[in-house]
Amino acid sequence: MKKLGIYIHIPFCVKKCGYCDFYSVKWDQISESKYIQSAINEIKSYSELNDKYIVDTIFIGGGTPSIIKPQNIEYLLAAIKNIFIVEGNAEISMEANPNTLNTGSLNAYKSIGINRLSIGIQSLNDIILKKIGRIHNSKEALEAIEKAKQCGFANINADLMFNIPGQTIDDIDNTINNLIKKDIKHISFYSLKLEKGTPMYRLEEKKKIVLPEEDLEREMYYTGRNIMEIHNLMQYEISNFAVKGYECRHNLKYWNQEEYIGIGPSSHSFLGNMRFNNSSDLKEYLLSSERQAFESKTFERNIQEVMDKNELMFEYIMLRLRLAEGLKFVDFKNKFLVDFGETYAEQIEYLAKNNLVEIDDKAVRLTKKGMDISNYVFEKF
Ligand SMILES: C[S@@+](CC[C@H](N)C(=O)[O-])C[C@H]1O[C@@H](n2cnc3c(N)ncnc32)[C@H](O)[C@@H]1O
Ligand code: SF4
Repeated sequence: MKKLGIYIHIPFCVKKCGYCDFYSVKWDQISESKYIQSAINEIKSYSELNDKYIVDTIFIGGGTPSIIKPQNIEYLLAAIKNIFIVEGNAEISMEANPNTLNTGSLNAYKSIGINRLSIGIQSLNDIILKKIGRIHNSKEALEAIEKAKQCGFANINADLMFNIPGQTIDDIDNTINNLIKKDIKHISFYSLKLEKGTPMYRLEEKKKIVLPEEDLEREMYYTGRNIMEIHNLMQYEISNFAVKGYECRHNLKYWNQEEYIGIGPSSHSFLGNMRFNNSSDLKEYLLSSERQAFESKTFERNIQEVMDKNELMFEYIMLRLRLAEGLKFVDFKNKFLVDFGETYAEQIEYLAKNNLVEIDDKAVRLTKKGMDISNYVFEKF
């Protein structure tokens, strides 16, 4: 049996943050109930895969999974277990926003099998949190981590952002050091990107806010990376740091080009050599699910791409080079029956000469300089 990851998107938030272009709508009870039924239908639509795959990671992301009833999360997990074999030691992650967590819900998540929590902290500076439209403050963020630990969660991630207008190196220093004091095992450290259509993008266009200069953006990144690495949160991907053994197994599937299916609006899947996705529209998604249930139709998905070998190879290089471990020659050979060193000799020589990649007899990986301009490196392949 092959391994499979399952992502479930919970498309609801209390309030949209100023920078976010992930798909979510304002939560209400009726939409939540309808959505859970539809997502269960979609899980069932994959039943033909169950004799070929065994599930080893589940990631419930959003949106804000922690605003829906824990019982509904339980129904989703039960639907997966009804269809698939789920490994006993599967990683089951859930994203949560600080002030939507309480001891009751945390105990419920633990008892239904969630074993990894990813909490959206962003920053521990209250002025910054307010500016970006978060509904929590730093005190609530630290309390959420404390409560999660008390309820028995040992595997906790904190999502952080840097490159926020008005943010300083001191903010980064203070935020990360305070999280380390809480014995956090994993930090995702994202550079704020303003996407078209978001309120903060419009503010930047009107020059009402100014993003930090590129040099300061890089300094924030290096500062964060240094503090984390001194405290054993080692960089394993461009934006991800973990104590050894706490790397996110589900997200590693994305960078290893392994198979996963995505449930819910806006979610993506990769099966065989095919990438496909669901529409980013809750109403359309609910309709598609109803059609499937009442007219025995297949679930409507958009096929993005059937990938040929060259496309798969290029994508694999791009994904694997994001990892600190780099691309291992033996894995490349086993996967594509192609010798990496021979095929890309010219590119490797050029990139190594410019100190953008380093090579040994087993692997090629980005240097720190290469990580800064990773898109330029990928372009060379
Ligand atoms: C999509 S959210 C879902 C989890 C949860 N709702 C939350 O807000 O923490 C996952 C993470 O993506 C990051 N993120 C979202 N939009 C971003 C952006 N425009 N630039 C950089 N990081 C972003 C934030 O750190 C956020 O915690
Ligand atoms: S960052 Fe998280 S809470 Fe904020 S709008 Fe996006 S998904 Fe919702």
